[in-house]
Amino acid sequence: MKKPAKKRVTNLDSFSPLENKTVLLGVSGGIAAYKACDLASMLRRAGADVHAVMTPNARQFITPLSLTTLTRNPTHCEQYLDSADWRPEHIDLAKKADVILIAPATADLIAKLATGICDDLLTTMVLASKAKVMIAPAMNPNMLNHPATQQNLAILQNRFRYEVIAPEVGEVACGDYGAGKMATIESIMAAVAARLLSHQTLVNKRVLVTAGGTREPIDPVRFIGNRSSGKMGFAIADAAYARGAEVTLISTVEVERAYPVIVVETAQEMQEAVELEFDTSDCLVMTAAVADFRPLSVSSQKIKKNESEDLLLELTKNPDIIDLLGRVKRKDQILCGFAAESEGLVTNAASKLKRKNLDMIIGNDISVPDIGFGSDDNAVVILTQEGTRESLPRMSKRAIADHIFDIISERFRLMEEENGATVGRD
Ligand code: CTP
Repeated sequence: MKKPAKKRVTNLDSFSPLENKTVLLGVSGGIAAYKACDLASMLRRAGADVHAVMTPNARQFITPLSLTTLTRNPTHCEQYLDSADWRPEHIDLAKKADVILIAPATADLIAKLATGICDDLLTTMVLASKAKVMIAPAMNPNMLNHPATQQNLAILQNRFRYEVIAPEVGEVACGDYGAGKMATIESIMAAVAARLLSHQTLVNKRVLVTAGGTREPIDPVRFIGNRSSGKMGFAIADAAYARGAEVTLISTVEVERAYPVIVVETAQEMQEAVELEFDTSDCLVMTAAVADFRPLSVSSQKIKKNESEDLLLELTKNPDIIDLLGRVKRKDQILCGFAAESEGLVTNAASKLKRKNLDMIIGNDISVPDIGFGSDDNAVVILTQEGTRESLPRMSKRAIADHIFDIISERFRLMEEENGATVGRD
């Protein structure tokens, strides 16, 4: 006798994958609005902070009270309220949402979104938010197939990069048969989870990051330093943390973070701290500007200017931290360096990549005004050991950091795949 197929049970009550995620659930006026209640409940049980926003027509189908009860948050319906607050709460919500999910999305709402009309609270919030927008259309098959709707959906998908959760084929509420039935709650949940959790690409990875510029003391008051602000390193560490990595930041600049920050001053202190952590790390991103030289001897007293006309400082070479680690790194570790160059960006970065046995190097041209040191933006070229080269135009350091971790995550994925294949062969 054929064994019954095992039923897959998702126990959302004991697992909160969407914890700390804010979902703005938009509901427009179609019969599928009643399914938004189930969706609200499921999202909340999955740990999300859910805030429902209803269009006026949605209230013809369900009441705000249903959504308020299920989301455990007030439901927003009115665009214009007499509020004591100078900044309406819904605008804050639009800003803090991780994702805006509109389910169901009617033909009318889709048309408004495609043209930027914002004549109610929901459409206004969509326009005011930078969050990813996901829509689950639900309508009569003829309405869905109408060229106007198809064109509007194409605009949302291709121009605005909204994610459209495809409607299903079946019998719709009015009795017609065809595509137009809202996707199942399970598939909407899966799409939302995939969207919100897709960037958790570094779970179970230990990422070590260095930031800032080292200071090499000359005497108790003076040092040799450089212009590094540490901002690129902080962006790198924050991006890794947001992807679920266990992060340790070794920095010359004190910052408060949710992950451990080890503050160091000199290249030697940085070397010591990095070497202590490296063995247990899966990835090291050496963003710090490490001084290549330090004074051979440090005066214990302040050097007085009237002692002589000239002051000659004798310098000695500092250890090249990443170079030393490039010699001992294991195959399962990723080493990423930075190269700040004032000329010959690609040639110099490529030679450092090879010489230091790095997996990848991020080159930035420090001769370009307004970017790099101290700035919130940078423009870089990313070179990998395999010979790929990718130039990123001026963008925020955080966006660059995210791009770097897209590449690093993919390297980890390939490594794991390769490992799996090796184990399989054994
Ligand atoms: N680096 C390091 N230890 C040093 C110097 C640099 O670990 N003593 C690392 C930096 O953190 C960076 C990479 O090496 O990730 C390249 O640093 P960079 O200063 O651009 O190159 P250098 O090797 O110092 O060469 P040069 O200063 O001659 O350009």
